[in-house]
Amino acid sequence: MAGSAERTPIIAGNWKMHKTPLEAEELVRALLPQVAPAGDREVVRCPPFPALAAVVAACRGTRVAVGAQNLHWEREGAFTGEVSAPMLVAVGCRYVIVGHSERRQYCGEDDWLVNRKLKAALAAGLRPILCVGETLAQRELGITEAVCAIQLKSALAGLAAGDLEPLVIAYEPVWAIGTGRTASASDAQEVIAFLRSLLARDYGTALAQQVPILYGGSVKPENIGALMAQADIDGALVGGASLDAASFAAIVNF
Ligand code: 13P
Repeated sequence: MAGSAERTPIIAGNWKMHKTPLEAEELVRALLPQVAPAGDREVVRCPPFPALAAVVAACRGTRVAVGAQNLHWEREGAFTGEVSAPMLVAVGCRYVIVGHSERRQYCGEDDWLVNRKLKAALAAGLRPILCVGETLAQRELGITEAVCAIQLKSALAGLAAGDLEPLVIAYEPVWAIGTGRTASASDAQEVIAFLRSLLARDYGTALAQQVPILYGGSVKPENIGALMAQADIDGALVGGASLDAASFAAIVNF
């Protein structure tokens, strides 16, 4: 089993821009009976904004938590089209994904913005799932650790160890997302152990040992076992396979 006994494994599903509220409810209803016995894992579903309320309602009284995929850094104001952390809390979210590579790539999110969003999530009492990861070009240049270190350190700028207890990190190599190409379990372990060492250096061993660090990028029932066998991998952030109840349940129940 992954990681240390202190860290509860987390399997989170990032649905991206898929599922209407009705489809989302159907997916959750199909999933719930299949994940009920998975007692030692935290299960999180992250549907698009319009489906959040339906998924929260369908998951009420179960062990499945709900998260959003994005948030704005201000609590309220003239920010057309945006959704704030207190709004997510009010609808029943406990988690929020911050800094996903698709938002960095397609929506111009930079490290400064990710830092502000992370602070907003923590201030509202949400557990942020902070995504970091290198592109294929960066991996081939041999700068994976440097890229991930910059993303992690700038996302956490201005925060102290005491602020970071709710933090979850997801290492998602961009070249492994939606490509069917998973990082090898040992490559993922290496980067994740490096991220944990950065946390230890900057925030102390206690926090570093407590923060769950997930792997994301083409996670499937077939590769979850090898990933979870690694000492520092505490779970998975699952994209495509989270849209199928049987596949996601197989990953949760591994
Ligand atoms: P896939 O599992 O579809 O590769 O997506 C991973 C991801 O981006 C999760 O946030």
